[in-house]
Amino acid sequence: MGFVIAVDGPAASGKGTIAGRLAALYDYPLLDTGLLYRAVGVAVLDGLGDLDDPIAAEAVARALDLTALDRAEVRTRAAGEAASRVAVHPGVRAALFDLQRDFARREPGSVIDGRDIGTVIAPEAPAKLYVTARPEIRAERRWKQLVGQGEDVGFQEILADIRKRDERDGGRKDAPMTQAVDAVLLDTSEMTIEQAFDAARRIVEDARAHHRL
Ligand code: C5P
Repeated sequence: MGFVIAVDGPAASGKGTIAGRLAALYDYPLLDTGLLYRAVGVAVLDGLGDLDDPIAAEAVARALDLTALDRAEVRTRAAGEAASRVAVHPGVRAALFDLQRDFARREPGSVIDGRDIGTVIAPEAPAKLYVTARPEIRAERRWKQLVGQGEDVGFQEILADIRKRDERDGGRKDAPMTQAVDAVLLDTSEMTIEQAFDAARRIVEDARAHHRL
């Protein structure tokens, strides 16, 4: 296993931006694991399947076409909702496990962003961040992003989405979203992107120094 930087946290916490910048800084490959669940959700919907049917969703996850991760369709609000519904099925999580583990083995290191990276996918990762922010702040960020993408949606709807998603992701039995005991908490509520990235970089530098000892 390489020097894995695990970046977990709830939707719109800033973890995606932070993970992307860390990957660029260290020249490590980046895996946004949310896209995997989003692609499964979208593929189930495209096939007119039932998101809550574990068998059907697992079959889709096992046959996942990775080129789907690049499609704009996986970044929509509907895809986020579909992702969190298929993500509760243990069979779906199992189907996506090896791909994520293989990524964690990349040398000299990698950045992996998600919900269960520090707890399930790469519990031995030497650098773990749990990035969060207050729900209202996250909703505002996500709302601006979606409106920028051309979606016609109100702030209150997005806030409700965020709360529902937190509850579903944190409450599921298999690999719930939670801060790993050895992850460093980064609350970006009062931070600009620059400040959040700077704080994240310091956390990772600290972990790198310990890793080398
Ligand atoms: O991060 P993103 O918002 O793209 O994730 C979409 C959904 O995929 C999450 O709400 C969560 O239900 C699921 N997910 C997960 N485990 C991960 C990454 C995402 O369950 N490692």
